[in-house]
Amino acid sequence: MASQQIHARSVGEITDQDRVGSPEYVAGGARRDELSAINIAKTSGNKQLLKNVSLSIRPGEITALIGPSGAGKTTLLKALSLLEIPDSGNLLIDDLTYSFPFRKNQKVAPPWPKLTVVFQQLFLWPHLTLRKNITLPLGNHLDEPTSARLEQLIDRFKMREFIDRHPNETSIGQRQRAALVRALVLNPKYILLDEITSSLDVEQVAYILSELRVMQEQGIGILLVTHLLHFAREAADSIVFMEHGKVIESGGKEVLAQPRQERIKSFVAMAEFAS
Ligand SMILES: Nc1ncnc2c1ncn2[C@@H]1O[C@H](COP(=O)(O)OP(=O)(O)OP(=O)(O)O)[C@@H](O)[C@H]1O
Ligand SMILES: [Mg+2]
Repeated sequence: MASQQIHARSVGEITDQDRVGSPEYVAGGARRDELSAINIAKTSGNKQLLKNVSLSIRPGEITALIGPSGAGKTTLLKALSLLEIPDSGNLLIDDLTYSFPFRKNQKVAPPWPKLTVVFQQLFLWPHLTLRKNITLPLGNHLDEPTSARLEQLIDRFKMREFIDRHPNETSIGQRQRAALVRALVLNPKYILLDEITSSLDVEQVAYILSELRVMQEQGIGILLVTHLLHFAREAADSIVFMEHGKVIESGGKEVLAQPRQERIKSFVAMAEFAS
């Protein structure tokens, strides 16, 4: 009953009672075992980049984030990973609660490594080998389980041959895998992936998509920014469609399979024409 009351309350309203109350629900229907963004807003200059965006990512599920260029998808990933601090709203990552704006001098626990991001630009250091790029965020000393996980990932992503090369001595697909492994070795519970298949050929795309399913089976919650509507329709548990900094529709496969809004219908038609 208590959880239903919390569920019914408007999103974005968090009280102390929510934080200490129900074990299952915290606020606006957010469950403790998920990442929930509630009314996230971000302005830069006089441009509103994110307008009260709400979404959730659940462990073991794929959430596809879709929308035209400039919709704010990358900006949202930066906001969810606190690379850009939102102006308002709330972010709940399991039992971590972030309320924006932060108070002056507020000490904030970082969301990583529980939450990690792979950006389209990959951000690999050119003067370091792929192996060094992958281990850099782990600090100087790798413990035994982390070393073992890294070796497994190198095998799983078939990287032995080029792991000790510099980025400019590898292909785009190989660099892409290195960026993915750099995120996975941190053992994240939630991973945000920004167009990670966009510069790959069809075989590489199929390979990465199959690996996403493995990650999903391992219980990782995945937010996938993608233009691959077929994959989203087939594999995503939920779909979020953004335009002009706003979520204009979210739900299950029906968002793409039977679009209700003309904007989504025309986007789907154009994407199918282009593929
Ligand atoms: N720091 C910033 N300051 C001002 N405007 C920004 C900033 N970052 C992004 N923008 C603008 O915000 C809008 C959304 O950009 P964003 O990169 O999030 O779009 P996107 O949905 O990821 O697009 P794409 O599919 O092309 O990657 C764009 O109009 C962009 O020019
Ligand atoms: Mg983008």
